[in-house]
Amino acid sequence: MEFKNLLFTVEDGVATITFNRPKALNAMNTETMKELMDAATLCKNDDAVKVLILTGSGDKAFVAGADISEMQNLRPKEALAFMELGNETLRLIETLPKPSIAAVNGFALGGGTEISMCCDMRFASETARFGQPEILIGLIPGWGGTQRLSRLIGMGRAKELIMGGEQIDAKRAFDVGLVNRVFPLDQLLPETKKFALKLVRMPGFALKMAKHSINFGYDLALDNGIRLEMECCAQCFSTDDQKEGMKAFLEKRKPAYTGK
Ligand code: CAA
Repeated sequence: MEFKNLLFTVEDGVATITFNRPKALNAMNTETMKELMDAATLCKNDDAVKVLILTGSGDKAFVAGADISEMQNLRPKEALAFMELGNETLRLIETLPKPSIAAVNGFALGGGTEISMCCDMRFASETARFGQPEILIGLIPGWGGTQRLSRLIGMGRAKELIMGGEQIDAKRAFDVGLVNRVFPLDQLLPETKKFALKLVRMPGFALKMAKHSINFGYDLALDNGIRLEMECCAQCFSTDDQKEGMKAFLEKRKPAYTGK
């Protein structure tokens, strides 16, 4: 599939989607969001894709937010449609039955932080900057920022970022739990790919169940979350990989997973 504003590759089970509108610091307009939806759908449906990486082209920006020039004159109803498209796309990525990692290589502001938060993990360059600066242009986040940021770093810190509109650097993002790992810029992609390849070699169904249980258990009462986890864990026992994993352990050898 050809994209205008994205680069899309699949290599060794790892799909990489690179936001590629460098002149606008990879800001997300409708056209780019539709392409992201198409690329994410491809990843969902292609069994050859085991892990997804999202990153930005160049060394300055991951995504500098939703495209302000496109949003400027929207009326509320049009703004709602713009937000719906974004949220549908981000939720698709968040619920992909395979892991995703945001490799944040620079500015991840507004919609950029929001896109990174729909991924399972965030790896950042030392030069990355995060924030929800929408308040500075008379807005609030519209692609899940008020919801996912609170869940990731707590309500008090999320309110500080969303109401104060300030940016934070990668170190602060790591300290508050927004970012999993921080690397020098030139090592960000190689290190992210290295971790992605480690995930490619994991038993795929167990990865899917882990993600499902964490994602859908999070908002449940504890007893219901534990019930969900038990069911997900029990389903792993229907796979060849569970049999192989335990057999290999007992035979003191490395498992040879088949993904079945
Ligand atoms: N939308 C449209 N264009 C953008 C953009 C955005 N979000 N961010 C940057 N650009 C464009 C600039 O307009 C500029 O274009 P021109 O060269 O044609 O003038 C180009 O990218 C380079 O940007 P700057 O000259 O501003 O670069 P800088 O290094 O001085 O500053 C920056 C970088 C701090 C990221 C700054 O560009 C900035 O603050 N961008 C906007 C960040 C923002 O407010 N994001 C939130 C958007 S709202 C949102 O995302 C809503 C939502 O939740 C869905």
